[in-house]
Amino acid sequence: MCGIFAYLNYLTPKSRHEVLDLLLNGLKRLEYRGYDSTGVAIDSPQANDIVMVKRCGKVKVLEDAIAEHFSGKEYDEPVMTHVGIAHTRWATHGVPCETNSHPQRSDDENSFVVVHNGIVTNYKDVKTFLEKRGYIFESDTDTEVIAKLVHHLWKKHPGYSFRELVEQVIQQLEGAFAIAIKSKHFPGECVASRRGSPLLVGIKTKTRLSTDHIPILYGKDEKSPQTCEKDTEAQKTKVLPRTESTSEFMPLEEKEVEYFFASDASAVIEHTNRVIYLEDDDVAAVRDGTLSIHRLKKCLDDPHAREITTLKMEIQQIMKGNYDYFMLKEIFEQPESVVNTMRGRVRFDSKSVVLGGIKDFIPEIKRCRRLMLIGCGTSYHSAVATRQLLEELTELPVMVELASDFLDRNTPIFRDDVCFFISQSGETADSLMALRYCKQRGALIVGITNTVGSSICRESHCGVHINAGPEIGVASTKAYTSQFISLVMFALVMSEDRLSLQQRRLEIIQALYELPDRIRQVLKLDSQVQELAKDLFQHKSLLIMGRGYNFATCLEGALKVKELTYMHSEGIMAGELKHGPLALIDDRMPVMMIVLRDPVYIKCINALQQVTSRKGCPIIICEEGDEETKSYSSRSLEIPRTVDCLQGILTVIPMQLLSYHIAVLRGCDVDCPRNLAKSVTVE
Ligand code: F6R
Repeated sequence: MCGIFAYLNYLTPKSRHEVLDLLLNGLKRLEYRGYDSTGVAIDSPQANDIVMVKRCGKVKVLEDAIAEHFSGKEYDEPVMTHVGIAHTRWATHGVPCETNSHPQRSDDENSFVVVHNGIVTNYKDVKTFLEKRGYIFESDTDTEVIAKLVHHLWKKHPGYSFRELVEQVIQQLEGAFAIAIKSKHFPGECVASRRGSPLLVGIKTKTRLSTDHIPILYGKDEKSPQTCEKDTEAQKTKVLPRTESTSEFMPLEEKEVEYFFASDASAVIEHTNRVIYLEDDDVAAVRDGTLSIHRLKKCLDDPHAREITTLKMEIQQIMKGNYDYFMLKEIFEQPESVVNTMRGRVRFDSKSVVLGGIKDFIPEIKRCRRLMLIGCGTSYHSAVATRQLLEELTELPVMVELASDFLDRNTPIFRDDVCFFISQSGETADSLMALRYCKQRGALIVGITNTVGSSICRESHCGVHINAGPEIGVASTKAYTSQFISLVMFALVMSEDRLSLQQRRLEIIQALYELPDRIRQVLKLDSQVQELAKDLFQHKSLLIMGRGYNFATCLEGALKVKELTYMHSEGIMAGELKHGPLALIDDRMPVMMIVLRDPVYIKCINALQQVTSRKGCPIIICEEGDEETKSYSSRSLEIPRTVDCLQGILTVIPMQLLSYHIAVLRGCDVDCPRNLAKSVTVE
């Protein structure tokens, strides 16, 4: 949705120019999360002042503005301690423009400035409350209420620390947020918090860190949150809860230290691999170089400390390398990413599969009433792609659901349902809401995600991490094939002790073994696909048809074409052709058809004939050497043979490449398509 990046250096001299470079670089890493406007706030060289620069457009536009704005020599002077906050936005409240960009501020003097990811659902109430107290709002954002509410509380309670003020503010907020706040009244301090949107703290020290955990300080006051209106009087008199340490863990007290607050690890990995993933309602505060984590309430099973995690990510994983776009790099990474998904799980020598993250839950899953696979967009398509195999190997009813529709319908869920939540980011609001809905009803929750520490990961009972590596291009590619494989592995685990299915299992495990090579073969089609793109890029529409194991490729291919090229595209179930879509066919309508030698081959050939007999001239995706199928058209792409249930992995790759090449030919921004964001943290 949006990207947050904040940087604090304590007793580690940095010039403001260096700080700005760090902030801009952090924003570039997070640009995939939103890119319609950006902004930064740093301390001004004039004492006790904060300067902000905000721009509509991508980080590059901000970079140019910063170069112009901060040109003086004073920006080269080293500063011992400094706090800078930065943001890249995907607009939800208010159009992309400078005023609506973040940081949002409390007043003309920039007393408190805030960057925010998420949506404050009760912002209208808070705004009314503040307007009655004389605050004048300048933006259309929900975020501005946060800055102004801190300011209001600061005026009312001059004795409160910065952290205490923020604790009060988050009690008044409903919805989802990750925030980082800076204030000219609390120089050298930064306070950050989250609820529902991701946020982590990166820690960089010169020497080895003195601790592996940060103690959590809990408040004594168990008062439940109230809205501003209800709390007006209470706030006049209320003694704010103080937080105190109840733990044996050492606080983090480093002499020279740098802190990074970021929406995800890709923004900090080039500085440090030591991070703390904040939990909902954590308030992380840095003061005098010391990081502390606070929570207002302690529940019985709450931990005493937050662990400092060592990131396994490599810097190369978040660089484009020799590729023009992240998306292209990620498409070409698939021979390796599928291996990473299977690593340590599929044992090719013993022909067995073990999924450590769900191993203990398999007996319970085997007793369930039905499996439900829930996700959005591409993640949903991975469920469509594997449903048939799951039905075959688990012999259970399998429902596939779009998270948003599932919630709209108030779908009945039972205690003996097993619900899979498939999400690359692990933060998609619709999927997360659906997860909580199913969890409340007692279902077992299995998360299939690509992001360690994400909300879906944390809120699931068990799960499979797909290990595809960071996916930065907004259009999902390698995450799809890894989600696909994760679900196939689950089907293999479920059928382990079914004698009648052993032959089928062996065939699939063998095909998984050969898969990386098969993917490499498909990637060699790139130049052929590029030629096809030249034929197609000026058209208005593209129909993609198939059935059985390849129907998901049609949906996924059409989604890729739509989101990257802004061209209309539709995935059509070939069996439905005669029930309507056939009317679209003529000699000008671009059509792609997937016709492989699997159990639905004859039916696909029937569909192909229906198209060609209406003068349609489809591009056919068929199996290598299948001259008979190729003879139906002058244009075809031949993919290597594999077991039927894995064909979808090989057929989707030409579609990924095609959408990429059409987008380039149409002059579209491949990694940052218009109107989209990678992590959709709003419903
Ligand atoms: C398409 C795409 C989206 C996402 C969808 C769900 O290329 O990326 O359709 O798949 O927004 O996102 P996750 O998987 O993060 O839940």
